[in-house]
Amino acid sequence: MIKKIIAGIMMVFLINVAIISNSNIAMAQSKGEVPGQTLGLKSDADLWRFVRNGNTGSTQMKDELAAVMIQSEGDNWRALRNGPISVFGGIGLAGIIGLLIVFYLYRGKIKVESGLTGETILRFATIDRFAHWLMAGSFVLLAFTGLNMLYGRYVLLPIIGPEFFSAISVFGKYIHNYLSFGFMIGLALAFVLWVRHNIPTKIDWEWLKKGGGIFKAGMHPPAKKFNAGQKMIFWITMIGGLSVSMSGIALMFPFETTMFSETFAMLNVFGLDLPTNLTAIQEQQYNQLWHGIVSLGLMIMIIAHIYIGSVGMEGAIDAMNSGKVDRNWAKEHHNLWVKDEDEKNKKPEPAE
Ligand code: HEM
Repeated sequence: MIKKIIAGIMMVFLINVAIISNSNIAMAQSKGEVPGQTLGLKSDADLWRFVRNGNTGSTQMKDELAAVMIQSEGDNWRALRNGPISVFGGIGLAGIIGLLIVFYLYRGKIKVESGLTGETILRFATIDRFAHWLMAGSFVLLAFTGLNMLYGRYVLLPIIGPEFFSAISVFGKYIHNYLSFGFMIGLALAFVLWVRHNIPTKIDWEWLKKGGGIFKAGMHPPAKKFNAGQKMIFWITMIGGLSVSMSGIALMFPFETTMFSETFAMLNVFGLDLPTNLTAIQEQQYNQLWHGIVSLGLMIMIIAHIYIGSVGMEGAIDAMNSGKVDRNWAKEHHNLWVKDEDEKNKKPEPAE
């Protein structure tokens, strides 16, 4: 009998618990209130939206990031990296190669129209060529190893398999980290050596108006040591190279910089509303995205530069190989520079 009474009491208790908990769910659903109002939030949806959007709560832990339950910007970062940046970067790289092929079919190799003389003139000294090849060699390797980080898993992994892909990616990452210093030194040296030849002048405008004469045979707009096109390449390489270097260093030594908060604060002076209170991880995400965007842009430009400096133009590569170019090449592409050089090299008249 006692057993039956205890069993009856237990049944009543369980039924009550079920009714109470069910009524709480029903209440939360019908009125949108969090049961007990302990969090002071209106509903579960609000609570989860708060967490999902990466808001910071409070914590006793020393690491302030521990107060963020879900770092939502990480999702946005991944979506941007694997989405538009990869897609548009790929289109840009394929696009420039396609354009250069079309240009080659239309224009062919740009020849020295007045013919080669065999007489040469010094264009770049050893130190210039050292700076160029240090910058160029390291850039090319940085580009390939960087592209592997962005596209390797889609392009190489299915072909070469996980073991080999993993091995070359680890090796590539070391190359990428260490060669970046070679690139930075080459960049700084090239800046110091060439900046004085790259100040824009009125002649550049004339050169630009004639499209540099590269689309039509027989047209040679005047230019000094560097023409307007080269000056653009110089400045984009210098500014882009500096930017890619700064974001690269921030990626190599993470959580040390606040470059984006500071830059956004400066840009907000122009009426923008960019976020200035970025967490350390958000700074890293911006660094990574910016590093990718600028380096892909540089690669696209440099592919065109490599084309015109090698297969696209007869005699151009000599400038960076031996340092000496044919006199007629120099006269056709940099006539004012030849004039200046001739003036400089003129032997003083013997005294009477
Ligand atoms: C790897 C293949 C490359 C080749 C064959 C090449 C070729 C050349 C040549 C022939 C010149 C001298 C042009 C003249 O005499 O007027 C030159 C200049 C220059 N190169 Fe390269 N280059 C290469 C890669 C690079 C890279 C990767 C960069 C930068 C990251 C670069 C940056 C420059 C700059 C800033 C100049 C001076 C401005 C100009 O002439 O456009 N080069 N290059």
